[in-house]
Amino acid sequence: MFENTRPRRDVAIIGTGCTKFGELWDKSLRDLVVEAGVKAVEDAGIYGKELQLVVGGNMSGGLFIGQEHTGALFADYLGLNHVPSIRAEAACASSSVALRIGYIAVASGLYDYVAIGGAEKMTDVYGPHATTALASAMDQETEAYCGSTFPGVYALMAKRHMHEYGTTREQMAKVAVKNHENALHNPIAHFQRKITVEDVISSQLVADPLRLLDCSPISDGAAAVILAPADLAKKHTDSPVYIKASAQASDSLSLFSRRDICTLDATLFAAKHAYEQAKLTPKDIHVAEVHDCFTISELIAYEDLGLCKKGEGGKFMESGQTLLGGNIPINTSGGLKAKGHPVGATGVAQVIELVQQLTGKAGKRQVSGAEIGLAHNVGGSGATVAIHILSNKI
Ligand code: COA
Repeated sequence: MFENTRPRRDVAIIGTGCTKFGELWDKSLRDLVVEAGVKAVEDAGIYGKELQLVVGGNMSGGLFIGQEHTGALFADYLGLNHVPSIRAEAACASSSVALRIGYIAVASGLYDYVAIGGAEKMTDVYGPHATTALASAMDQETEAYCGSTFPGVYALMAKRHMHEYGTTREQMAKVAVKNHENALHNPIAHFQRKITVEDVISSQLVADPLRLLDCSPISDGAAAVILAPADLAKKHTDSPVYIKASAQASDSLSLFSRRDICTLDATLFAAKHAYEQAKLTPKDIHVAEVHDCFTISELIAYEDLGLCKKGEGGKFMESGQTLLGGNIPINTSGGLKAKGHPVGATGVAQVIELVQQLTGKAGKRQVSGAEIGLAHNVGGSGATVAIHILSNKI
């Protein structure tokens, strides 16, 4: 069980770097890693040689580009061959888990300066191949072997949620409309295209009830942050962002083993630990990036994170509270839906959006007065969930 009382150092994010997300035909995985990594190091105002550990999230270099051993690749291409480098793999939550490993390394006192990255190059393979690569993160014996896919399992969750709670097609569509709207103001977003509820409902059927515009896309991209102990952070930046909580939980790989397919128990556990660690409640969160790999996922995240009551995610969306300008804007970056979802990069990219929000650098996406942000990242259909709570105050 989670231990909240052991002594630990406060940990800060002192630099960030991100590539554009999208179909980046002219860039390789290593180009993306270098671009994000170098930007983060420059932003942190440190020398590469000061870095003591690299942790890189990458879901499936092997299946997407035939490249395993990507932990070493990250260090190699960042010119850090002497530095220990670890690849973190937890499906779509890979780089949040990388961040958590880095957090533990700095909080424990073992390392001071740690580079955390995440990268995925997904568009070098055809669509069906990408679907198969993604499905390798499902339960092979009970799900993928039977022909199921991620859109398929999330469609089951959506159907059940509609049946149990009366969630409507329009409520799900509104998630995609909101996130595409937010992405209009995000220069790194995969899609910068406004859509309507009607566009979503009439888009091509993928897995009933989910349609093309309910789905996150297949994207390329990389993201990186530099961590340091809080007492060294001000040497490097006037505006460090502090990690107030880093929590993670696991659940069964397969959907059929779950207690309830309308809830991610791993989110419930990780959220409880995160709120306890940060000594905060859901009401204290000013802005959040939540895992919207499909529109239904965002509605379930609202409920499991305690932002609204169970079953009321759809109504919460309709209330407008999660829009920019609402009480708690969600996925100001455009989310996975519109910013894009290069799976290994997603968790760190969520955190970078929060850093921009908490330092007042989010431009037209800025949430006025944002001081506390939450990032929620899901691996697979919920077998891994990692949650980070960030603050611009120590
Ligand atoms: N949202 C909006 N537009 C999308 C899109 C998406 N998710 N995916 C593709 N498009 C657009 C493309 O830009 C392209 O537009 P264009 O014709 O104007 O150029 C068009 O739709 C067709 O693109 P294509 O690449 O042929 O789509 P596809 O049918 O191969 O793939 C999905 C569509 C939904 C199947 C694919 O994006 C997908 O599998 N998404 C889910 C990814 C996933 O499971 N991630 C892990 C979550 S746990």
